[in-house]
Amino acid sequence: MQIDHRHAQLYGIFGYPIDHSLSPLMHNTAFAHHHLDAVYLPFAVQPTQIEAAVKAIRALGIHGVNVTIPHKQAVMAWLDELSPEARLIGAVNTIHRQADRLLGYNTDGIGFLRSLEEAGSDAAGRTVLLLGAGGAARAIAVQLCLGRIHRLCIANRTVARAEALAASLKESFPHADICVVAMAESSLSAHLPDTDIVINATSVGMYPHDHMQFPFAEIGPRHLVCDIVYRPLQTPLLRAAQAQGARTVDGLGMLLHQGAKAFEIWTGRAFPLPLIRTTLLTALATQAVEPASPRKE
Ligand code: ATR
Repeated sequence: MQIDHRHAQLYGIFGYPIDHSLSPLMHNTAFAHHHLDAVYLPFAVQPTQIEAAVKAIRALGIHGVNVTIPHKQAVMAWLDELSPEARLIGAVNTIHRQADRLLGYNTDGIGFLRSLEEAGSDAAGRTVLLLGAGGAARAIAVQLCLGRIHRLCIANRTVARAEALAASLKESFPHADICVVAMAESSLSAHLPDTDIVINATSVGMYPHDHMQFPFAEIGPRHLVCDIVYRPLQTPLLRAAQAQGARTVDGLGMLLHQGAKAFEIWTGRAFPLPLIRTTLLTALATQAVEPASPRKE
């Protein structure tokens, strides 16, 4: 079959490395579903080339781009406008070119909240225990604060990073109730009875030897336990939570919904969620080799 791409709209993802990304599969499947003449490609952009790559969006007339590690912060310098989320998170994962203007968005936190909603939960008014203080944790924390949760407790292996995240959130959300907890079984145990939602936003769970100082035995039916790791989908945290009667949300939801939001921004169309979920599950089940960055998009 001959494919005529003369009029195709070009999309892509900038990252380094980029081989692991599931975004080309997700978006090309969604374009085909909507019969859109569009192509989404992975671009391995070295850090020294990221400025040239962002400027090429305009020069080449690329319609939309996702951005992943290590470029999420760097790209902001060459964009014309940032969404409120991107500005608060301090990182961009989606660029939309409108004529000559490059608009930057961050759909990671929104994607996470939508995955909660899909599971029938709402973060508003809840007490959340967030594990992690890296880029993913920050995106989720900002969105939780925007979503008016009751209380946010942050635990991280490196306490200073949790304190820095809490301090920066307090600047943007002066009325938010934010605390820092040591990543130790005793201090986490003390917080679990008052916690509604536990979110693992660390990379722990990707590898069999990973271990986290977490009181697994104290998770119970009152908890909603979420993990953003999606390789594997069933992490030790989620397995323990299910065994003890907690509801769980796995990392596929955030992956899927951050992509869905980007697709909506670019095309104004809805992501075909059931189709993309099945496509992702098949890809994850058939990818034999662990990629370099197993949970990053
Ligand atoms: P991301 O952008 O995905 O959040 P990151 O900024 O490198 O990536 O953050 C990784 C997170 O996983 C951090 O919270 C990190 O804790 P530190 O700040 O102490 O490094 C956490 N993490 C990674 N490996 C961990 C481990 N073995 N135990 C506990 N936390 C871990």
